[in-house]
Amino acid sequence: ERPVVFVFGSVNVDLVCRVPAIARPGETVLSARYEQLYGGKGANQAVAARRSSALPVAIAGAVGDDDLGRGARRSLDDEGIDTTNLATAGERTGCAFIAIDDEGENAITVASGANLEAGAAAVDPSLFRKAAVLVLQMEIRRGENLAAARRMTAAGGRVVVNLAPVPADLRQDELAEILAASTVLIVNESELSSAANISRSLGDTPAATADQLARRFAITVIATLGAEGVLIADGSGETTHVAALPVDVVDTTGAGDTFVGVFASGLAEGLSVAEAARRAAVGASLACRKVGAQTAMPSRAEIEAALANR
Ligand code: RIB
Ligand code: NA
Repeated sequence: ERPVVFVFGSVNVDLVCRVPAIARPGETVLSARYEQLYGGKGANQAVAARRSSALPVAIAGAVGDDDLGRGARRSLDDEGIDTTNLATAGERTGCAFIAIDDEGENAITVASGANLEAGAAAVDPSLFRKAAVLVLQMEIRRGENLAAARRMTAAGGRVVVNLAPVPADLRQDELAEILAASTVLIVNESELSSAANISRSLGDTPAATADQLARRFAITVIATLGAEGVLIADGSGETTHVAALPVDVVDTTGAGDTFVGVFASGLAEGLSVAEAARRAAVGASLACRKVGAQTAMPSRAEIEAALANR
């Protein structure tokens, strides 16, 4: 049996509009139209993993008993993702309100809804045995993430935790617990600073900070730095840099999720951390070329073609 990439996390519907500049508090900005797209960090990461590899991908989480939830489930099914462990909950399907400015930067508000009902105990135990890699993000309850990470570790699989978004009230002991049950931490630059501040591991540079975090928690830390590429720290004091692919950026939404999903499928296929990160960095760059998170996520063939042309 082939190893499975198992994503436990959020499923949202994204309402996306383009604005000249993102509204500040008290301000109203107009946009001519909006798009309704499937999103949520968990779903996005599952889609990225699925498109970038031939391995089976399964998602666990919760959507509401509503049209948005049925649509989100169907779109995951259509991608070829196993949704057997995607529950239907009492709250409404999670919804993300996304504004994108002319530079491709975004501001996102997420109404979590059903995602807060996602439960680790509801997951079929055999999934933890079949999974080579469990992927987590922070749009569901932390306690459920921790429970899933511990079950995966006990089953002998690897845990990739994407600390996105960093909960405003995340405590040092909570961060330590989830990292103790994880193999790889993936963060963007601001999440890197937040994690470092919470655990008092701030360095002078992103590389120094990633190295300190890696040493402190005995994990691999990967920091995604947008156009600056990716830093990998294993706590040895040496960090590896992976360049981004130069692209015309339309919308960075979902670029981080693409990195996480492509990275996880690479690990599950047996690539080294550095090899998987190289493939993932290319995937994330390609994902910035269209509006929406899943809309621009590349296929395996597109990633390989771009890698060959570097
Ligand atoms: O990372 C991008 C995602 O964050 C969007 O799809 C949105 O749903 C929010 O969860
Ligand atoms: Na995009």
